[in-house]
Amino acid sequence: MAGKFITLEGGEGCGKSTQLKLLANYLRSKNIDVVLTKEPGSTEEGKTLRELLVTGDKDKFDAISECLLYYADRRLNLTKVVWPALKENKWVISDRYADSTEAYQYYGYDKRVDFQTLQSLYKIVADDFKPDLTVILDMEPEVGMRRSFAKAQTMEVKELRFESRQIEFHHNLRRGFLEIAKREPERCAVVDADTDIETLHKRIVEIVENRLGI
Ligand code: TMP
Repeated sequence: MAGKFITLEGGEGCGKSTQLKLLANYLRSKNIDVVLTKEPGSTEEGKTLRELLVTGDKDKFDAISECLLYYADRRLNLTKVVWPALKENKWVISDRYADSTEAYQYYGYDKRVDFQTLQSLYKIVADDFKPDLTVILDMEPEVGMRRSFAKAQTMEVKELRFESRQIEFHHNLRRGFLEIAKREPERCAVVDADTDIETLHKRIVEIVENRLGI
């Protein structure tokens, strides 16, 4: 079976990481070879970029620098993890990909970066490559933020650079993800993530089966 590239997207605390693991287990039970990855931080070099990007002062980067760092990490993820795995016919599931840049850096910041700039950066980094399927985990930002802050209590390094932004930022980025899904309905599916883990998992499996025909 040819490899597929699935991305999971959503705001803070929407449960992507848990769902990623459950989906991987499900696909493996169907004898599919699965590779898990994430952005930012899937490679050794990317880990350093991740630390820069998700910790510290929320205003430490100007908009373009922040985009460039995410795109540098993305290029590393593609060249070192995603593309080699797809070449070997493996399925790759990524915890976030380019829709996060559009949602956070474009919609979140109320369009302070030019949309064309983002598209040009995407083209440089990935050319025409796109995910086969993107599942967007949608929920009220207030709910996700509560979960995210609770999780951060257990972390040694507090990854709260984006959580420290005003709630308006999170409402903007939620609208952004929904906008992307409306623009690209063949690639994207939106699921209500404010439900229990098992129900959400079943819904995601249904989408993967229907869209990618397992
Ligand atoms: P995570 O906590 O879901 O792993 O994501 C790391 C943080 O980086 C999260 O706050 C979302 C943010 N992010 C962006 O702002 N732009 C991007 O392009 C990506 C991939 C993540």
